[in-house]
Amino acid sequence: MIRVNPDLCVGCFRCFGVCNCTVFSEVDGQAWADPEKRCLKCMHCASVCPVGAITWDEEAAVEEDVEKYSDEFHGELVKLVRQRRSYRHYMDRPVEDEVLKEALELACWAPSAKNEHPTKWIVVRSREVLDDMMNKILAWVQETGNSLEILESYKEGMNVVMGTAPVILLAYCSDNAVNPKQDTAIAMETLELLLQSQGLGTCWAGYLTRMMNAVPALVEDFALPEGHSFYGAFMIGYPQDEDYIHVPKRLNQADIIWK
Ligand SMILES: Cc1cc2nc3c(=O)[nH]c(=O)nc-3n(C[C@H](O)[C@H](O)[C@H](O)COP(=O)(O)O)c2cc1C
Repeated sequence: MIRVNPDLCVGCFRCFGVCNCTVFSEVDGQAWADPEKRCLKCMHCASVCPVGAITWDEEAAVEEDVEKYSDEFHGELVKLVRQRRSYRHYMDRPVEDEVLKEALELACWAPSAKNEHPTKWIVVRSREVLDDMMNKILAWVQETGNSLEILESYKEGMNVVMGTAPVILLAYCSDNAVNPKQDTAIAMETLELLLQSQGLGTCWAGYLTRMMNAVPALVEDFALPEGHSFYGAFMIGYPQDEDYIHVPKRLNQADIIWK
């Protein structure tokens, strides 16, 4: 719970202005956090407190001090946004768990509705499991006649479901979260940029996301908790034979109404 330490609070009331839930009020010249009020646990209050008076469950509610970005940062970020690509061909090289773990942990700083961060992750990197998933998908496509284009491109050497990725990241979420689709997409795109900034290739796997919820054998294998569904998936790996040397033209310009 958010608490203001009365021994430290200097009554600057900066916490008031940034609290989305109006948790704070003034008591005897100091800030006081009303425990009855709904708190999003966003820690904005502690992030602006100049004297470290605000704690979460009696412990520090903030980490390191904010640092300014370097002068090159904006340009580098623009480069990353323009040079990010979807990769479908990957080396047969494992992706380090630490790299994935760091990116997944950093995705916790992505915004989410009501600060819920509802997305959970499954990292599949067993070749045997990946091949089994793909076989079940191909069998289901053949049996149902759904998304037959998957089969056609697969026969021509292009796997649009999983590429040749050594890692598949599956994102699942409670269907009752405030915004499961958007929260998962934002966390995933944060991840994608982080991973590509480190030389990894990624590709959104929309087909796979749908199949994970639709193919009975996969639903059974992964057995998500009741009321949960898959909301996203990524192919991840070190790219092979996909050396993009130009930034592609984008045919759709930003369509903007200014009022
Ligand atoms: C939500 C979403 C789902 C996608 N699903 C697939 C997919 O199942 N298979 C695939 O090969 N590419 C998939 N893509 C990648 C798009 O085809 C790709 O982003 C687009 O062609 C533009 O290429 P770029 O990402 O390299 O700019 C998906 C992209 C998004 C955003």
